[in-house]
Amino acid sequence: MNRKIVVTSALPYANGPIHIGHLVEYLQTDIWVRFQKANGNQCLYFCADDTHGTPIMISARKEGIEPEELIKRIYAEHTRDFADFHIQFDNYYSTHSEENRQLSSQIFKSLSDKGSIVKGEIEQAYCEKDKMFLPDRFIRGACPKCKSENQYGDSCDSCGATYQPTDLIEPVCSNCGTKPVIKKSIHYFFRLADFQQQLKDLMASGYTGKSVANKLEEWFSAGLKDWDISRDGPYFGFKIPGEENKYFYVWLDAPIGYMASCKNYCEKNGLDFDKVWNGKDYELYHFIGKDIMYFHALFWPAMLMGSGFKVANRLFVHGFLTVNGVKMSKSKGTFIKASTYAKHLDPEYLRYYYASKLTDGVDDIDLNLEDFVAKVNSDLVGKLANLASRSVPMLTGKLNAMLSSVDTAGKELLNQLTAAKNQIIDDYEKLDFASVIRQITALADIANKYVEVNQPWATIKTDPEKTRTTLTVILNAVKVLAIYLKPVLPVFVEKIEKILDVSPLTFADVESLLENKKVNEYIRLAERVEKQKVDTMVEESKNESAVNGSESEQKPQVTLDEPLEAECTIDDFKKVDLRVAKVLKAEKVTGADKLLHLELDIGGLIKNVFAGISQAYPEPEKLVGRLVICCANLQPRKMKFGVSEGMILAAGPGGKEVFMLGIDSGAKSGQRVH
Ligand code: MSP
Ligand code: ZN
Repeated sequence: MNRKIVVTSALPYANGPIHIGHLVEYLQTDIWVRFQKANGNQCLYFCADDTHGTPIMISARKEGIEPEELIKRIYAEHTRDFADFHIQFDNYYSTHSEENRQLSSQIFKSLSDKGSIVKGEIEQAYCEKDKMFLPDRFIRGACPKCKSENQYGDSCDSCGATYQPTDLIEPVCSNCGTKPVIKKSIHYFFRLADFQQQLKDLMASGYTGKSVANKLEEWFSAGLKDWDISRDGPYFGFKIPGEENKYFYVWLDAPIGYMASCKNYCEKNGLDFDKVWNGKDYELYHFIGKDIMYFHALFWPAMLMGSGFKVANRLFVHGFLTVNGVKMSKSKGTFIKASTYAKHLDPEYLRYYYASKLTDGVDDIDLNLEDFVAKVNSDLVGKLANLASRSVPMLTGKLNAMLSSVDTAGKELLNQLTAAKNQIIDDYEKLDFASVIRQITALADIANKYVEVNQPWATIKTDPEKTRTTLTVILNAVKVLAIYLKPVLPVFVEKIEKILDVSPLTFADVESLLENKKVNEYIRLAERVEKQKVDTMVEESKNESAVNGSESEQKPQVTLDEPLEAECTIDDFKKVDLRVAKVLKAEKVTGADKLLHLELDIGGLIKNVFAGISQAYPEPEKLVGRLVICCANLQPRKMKFGVSEGMILAAGPGGKEVFMLGIDSGAKSGQRVH
């Protein structure tokens, strides 16, 4: 039976570019949506830019433009990036829209009427110079726990402590540097706790997977708190009806943006919004990352329940992207923008790689760049594209492009391929794309084996008709694999459809045979990835972060050569995290005769360090493999030649006489030095 499905992905913030971390989500969703469509279901995919809030207002101010202008520009960038990665929304809208304003007011009113929204007084930091209340992230000061300077109002980057902005030592407005005052204000609160039982029932009904449900259990037992859903102006957002200077908090109108995008689509396409969004004929699914679970598993369903809307059938939660095993990092060049990736590499390769890694779990997924190159080259190019590239040119060049029919042995091969259909459909449905890709590559191995056994390149000289049969079987195998791959590789498969001269393939076409028909000329399906291109992309990403200015660059920098000024207490000294590090790379820095560029392995974590020891070590290659001692928690420092992320221990009067502290080779890199 034909299902009707509505799908959403979380709405990306309109104050920054789409990066490869975001793409985990939009690709996971897009693959699932394309699968539903290819499997004969009606599926509508809605998303939008999340445009409101203080950070966007401040970014616009800094650029000297109106927020409307900023979000317009970002919208163009985001939609371009999504198109480059073949992410096909049925509607990509904006939370700054009339539909959203109207729905937000409607839901707010409905919740207020039922007593789920109450007013209360709060105290908040206020900047008298900027004339605005300051969100936690816009207040800076020294951490109350470890005393590190220039930390955010909610948590310390240095020791990880979390606290209230009022706990900061010498807090200042991060915008203008003024000391904030504490001011009272009336805010609106959503009484989340009133929905506790309904939410528990929802979880019990299977709204989320198991590990997410466990997390929710923790939150339930900690007790659900009232949620502050208003902000005082100036604020970029929707004014609360009946209020002069109060706005909906961005997280109130953001998820309502899902509905607004759907509504806008329905209006443009003559559909009934109430039926599509709220009717029982339509299933509804949200895809999100694990960082925004609280909003989507608690606030959002409670808001919907409290205002008479249905709740999604399921919330799918994915993990975070790591690159080469660690968090994306600007200094390592692994904070890669979608547009930078697309400039150097084929977006379908990332679709393929992510698919090969994605399951229905919340574990983080790792993009290992070496593995990425290897997998694309060996599987996508070597196994899948190769099947077609070996057979089509022979058929069009030597056998007038005509297929004959499949013989008994060929039928046996094809049966193996078609037998996988139900399992592959099941795996797509339950988001186990990794399993789908494993099965497809195993089937491609079987098909390639068939080619080896039948040797069409040899038989073409002696028995053209046997060869034609062999090629007919292979191209039927290509067709089946193409259908299985289509949600992941839409463009690759579109080219196969052109070659085979068939109309767009769906899962219903798996069993049908292509026989006694003409095929078209071969079109190149995929190029090998050059490692060089990946390296260039990473290099370019390093430079970009230097241009854009990252968080850490705005912090005051500790310089290598400065003499110590203040006294250092034993507690201060304990903060220095000394680790054994193995030198992986050591080279001179062009243009800086005192500096060496070192790449250090600190127990699997790679750090770039620029050290002023070049005169003492004129043959840096000799340092490779040595174990040294490195201060591993030093704040990264941007230098002219790159970012230095640590410092190695060395002593001596200077110049040629500087000696690195070494360590016995029995030590392991990453070990703490006491
Ligand atoms: N604007 C909010 C969502 C509002 S939904 C009503 C937001 N935006 S975001 O741009 O920060 O993130 C958008 C989505 O991308 C989120 O689901 C988030 O989890 C996901 N990701 C952002 N960075 C990511 C990684 N590094 N890895 C995987 N997913 C990530 O949150
Ligand atoms: Zn200020």
